Amino acid sequence: MRSEARVPGALLLLLGALCVGARGPGPEPDQALQPPPGWVSIGRAGADEALSLTFALRQQNLQQLQKLVQDVSDPDSARYGKYLSLEDVAALIRPSTLTFTTVHEWLQAGGAHDCQTVITEDFLTCQMTVQQAEQLLPGAEFHHFINYQKETRVVRSPSPYSLPEALAAHVDFVGGLHRFPPTSFLQQRRKSQDSRNIHLGVTPAVIRKKYNLTAQDVGSGTLNNSQACAQFLEQYFHESDLEEFMKLFGKSFPHKDSVSRVIGQQGEGRAGLEASLDVEYLMSTGANISTWVYSNPGRHEAQEPFLQWLLVLSNESSLPLVHTVSYGDDEDSLSTAYLLRVNTELMKAAARGLTLLFASGDSGAGCLSGPKGNVFRPSFPASSPYVTTVGGTAFKNPFLIVEEMVDYISGGGFSNIFPRPEYQDKAVSQFLNSSTKLPPSRCYNSSGRAYPDVAALSDGYWVVSNHVPIPWVSGTSASTPVFGGILSLVNEQRLLKGRPPLGFLNPRLYKMQGLGLFDVTVGCHMACIFDEELGGQGFCSRPGWDPVTGWGTPNYPALLKALLDP
Ligand SMILES: *[C@@H]1O[C@H](CO)[C@@H](O)[C@H](O)[C@H]1NC(C)=O
Ligand SMILES: *[C@@H]1O[C@H](CO)[C@@H](O)[C@H](O)[C@H]1NC(C)=O
Ligand SMILES: *[C@@H]1O[C@H](CO)[C@@H](O)[C@H](O)[C@H]1NC(C)=O
Ligand SMILES: *[C@@H]1O[C@H](CO)[C@@H](O)[C@H](O)[C@H]1NC(C)=O
Ligand SMILES: *[C@@H]1O[C@H](CO)[C@@H](O)[C@H](O)[C@H]1NC(C)=O
Ligand SMILES: *[C@@H]1O[C@H](CO)[C@@H](O)[C@H](O)[C@H]1NC(C)=O
Repeated sequence: MRSEARVPGALLLLLGALCVGARGPGPEPDQALQPPPGWVSIGRAGADEALSLTFALRQQNLQQLQKLVQDVSDPDSARYGKYLSLEDVAALIRPSTLTFTTVHEWLQAGGAHDCQTVITEDFLTCQMTVQQAEQLLPGAEFHHFINYQKETRVVRSPSPYSLPEALAAHVDFVGGLHRFPPTSFLQQRRKSQDSRNIHLGVTPAVIRKKYNLTAQDVGSGTLNNSQACAQFLEQYFHESDLEEFMKLFGKSFPHKDSVSRVIGQQGEGRAGLEASLDVEYLMSTGANISTWVYSNPGRHEAQEPFLQWLLVLSNESSLPLVHTVSYGDDEDSLSTAYLLRVNTELMKAAARGLTLLFASGDSGAGCLSGPKGNVFRPSFPASSPYVTTVGGTAFKNPFLIVEEMVDYISGGGFSNIFPRPEYQDKAVSQFLNSSTKLPPSRCYNSSGRAYPDVAALSDGYWVVSNHVPIPWVSGTSASTPVFGGILSLVNEQRLLKGRPPLGFLNPRLYKMQGLGLFDVTVGCHMACIFDEELGGQGFCSRPGWDPVTGWGTPNYPALLKALLDP
């Protein structure tokens, strides 16, 4: 906990005013309140039930941080690769003493206790009862929600909260009230009921062959190189599944049979398919590299699992260099205050030289029905300008290791919140100018951050889960750990040469203009727009960058060459 200066008298007077004080509007008026499909309220939470809420405190010097991220990620800058430590980031952006003290004192006065912060001091997680929370945050009303299919419960408020006016300048948002756990981008697609129609199926050997990895392209075990994947809510992996998977599919390359570290809690339940997939494929491309799994079953029913992951990022000085996350939410379901703040958290990671990969989603351009018809629906964090977003492809001939085309589910499009970052300006305007058949312009916001940035196979994976080999596992959940493992191999070679890790890849990736990647130029992803002869299509891939497969899929030896120096 931060060492606190004693609260001056003026502040106490201010705090006195807060207790009776003016109730301002909440910081998240545009947050979606209806529970996502599958969740139902089973009634109000009792006044004495315990809650754990997280307060995001207003940070400082964010423009400076943004400039630093630009410099450390730009291979043409003198600061390229000179990353900040978590402590450096903390020194730059930590909230003012006034902010920290005002929020902390207000919480304590309201009965909150056991407040914990992180190294950057920009979050406070406190324990309190339902009654105390409802008094501190007028408007909030906590209910139990249950998801019968997932067999999980959460406590959330289906009505908006407000904050005292005097706190508005100090709090970005409060976590644990509204957002439900994010959804995983995984599907099981059975191609045909016809058993003679045996699809090739994607295994580590297929991936390694397609992306030109040899048996020598594995971690040396001599470096502090590591990678991680993040799982949220009821997604556990079993070591025994990983062992069995490697026995079946890992004979042709050196690999590890167990993960190095689990952060958070692994539940006792059955293995989740998403978790099994992520671990098995991250460890098959990033083979023989130390791998961590972040697992959060939601220690407390009031916690937001994704926010818990962000807190870990700001509370651990030494973290794996590459992180893959195959989860997301519709951008429009999240408040602007939350989106901007999470984006800042991702920027903090970029400043430290962490590479964050997010799946682009499994709904193509996405679909939001509005009064004026359907429009596209971007996904977040895929739409953040500070992450590398991974789309999906399929083999042109599903029975052979051949060229790739678009997997029609591959998420892609344009953010409605984040403007187009400079690094992709040229690529995106070139795409928009030279495409002959674009969807109607009312469907998307062409000035927004466009994604994905890259892609990999996303169709028909074999996964071992709960001791059973399972076919047809698909989605950008599969392509994301594959790309992550390949970047870990690049990091391995960079570290062996005494170079810094890749860090936030996009500024460099867009300068390479597709070097080291197989350009995917055939196919379109799906959308729910049926006018103007589009027939359910969104965007189509074409030579160069496109918002379906980005710059394309990895050709490891060429990608390594392009990314090894400086
Ligand atoms: C951050 O880490 C410290 C030290 O391990 C711990 O005491 C604290 O509870 C953590 N913060 C949160 C919000 O979990
Ligand atoms: C990599 O694979 C492609 C086909 O998948 C092949 O054309 C190419 O020669 C391979 N090797 C290198 C070094 O690019
Ligand atoms: C794999 O890693 C181990 C250490 O974890 C190391 O001893 C071994 O040499 C590595 N294998 C290869 C082929 O580099
Ligand atoms: C790097 O090595 C140190 C010392 O062995 C270890 O404590 C730390 O966890 C390692 N970091 C990662 C990210 O593997
Ligand atoms: C389009 O995106 C820009 C930022 O890139 C934003 O300012 C604007 O509000 C967005 N328009 C719509 C209709 O969402
Ligand atoms: C695309 O078109 C716009 C508007 O006509 C123009 O400003 C821009 O320079 C063009 N970009 C490219 C890369 O051709």
